[in-house]
Amino acid sequence: AFFHQKDERLSGKKIIITAGPTREKIDPVRYLTNHSTGKMGYAVAEEAAKAGAEVILISGPVSLAPPQGIHVVKVESAQEMYEAVISQYNDADIVIKSAAVADYRPKNYADHKIKKQPGEQVIELERTKDILMELGQRKDKQLLIGFAAETDHVSEYARKKLTSKNADMIVANNVKTEGAGFGTDTNIVTFYRKDGVTKEFPILSKKEVASKIIDEVCLLMKEQR
Ligand code: CTP
Ligand code: CA
Repeated sequence: AFFHQKDERLSGKKIIITAGPTREKIDPVRYLTNHSTGKMGYAVAEEAAKAGAEVILISGPVSLAPPQGIHVVKVESAQEMYEAVISQYNDADIVIKSAAVADYRPKNYADHKIKKQPGEQVIELERTKDILMELGQRKDKQLLIGFAAETDHVSEYARKKLTSKNADMIVANNVKTEGAGFGTDTNIVTFYRKDGVTKEFPILSKKEVASKIIDEVCLLMKEQR
């Protein structure tokens, strides 16, 4: 008979994972968003739970079923995601920011439906909070993992994000590459670690990528001690 040893690499650790897009309201019927489906973040949450972690999955609007045994907090806007993450941050050991957070939101919310008019329409946008950057500034013992979805200059931009956000690792992918875009079941990623170590992976399922991320998190936790 097979004997399965329980994976306890992250037992006793609290891990916050964000997933999915955010939704920024324009009026009661319209919003701004992006192509994130949440698949990558949900897969990371499942792998973290398998490794024994206490997982808080903070999720934007997605059509995925909540994973078994994982505490899911549903949010809509970047501001709501920010508040949910901050409220859990102090006693967290690890944060993995796989959500595709909107960079801008409409400056004004119209509480009545905007009626169409002849000619052009302008919607003024303002910046949302950069959640990861804020976490980086407030970092005490937490391990911070960010993502970078790029269409070009991937390594240059990923390294910039590593320093500007004070992250310990950035998981970068080129969303223009076949097999690495939004909504696919696969991804092609490179890890950029703060210590300069880079790890490139071939095309893998999002579940396999999630498992590589959790392996790396365990390594980084060990090295941190
Ligand atoms: N991020 C965040 N809050 C934001 C925007 C991004 O926490 N308001 C996080 C994402 O969850 C991701 C990382 O920052 O882990 C990088 O996101 P990305 O959109 O690639 O980078 P930006 O810093 O927003 O820069 P740009 O979109 O201009 O490339
Ligand atoms: Ca962005």
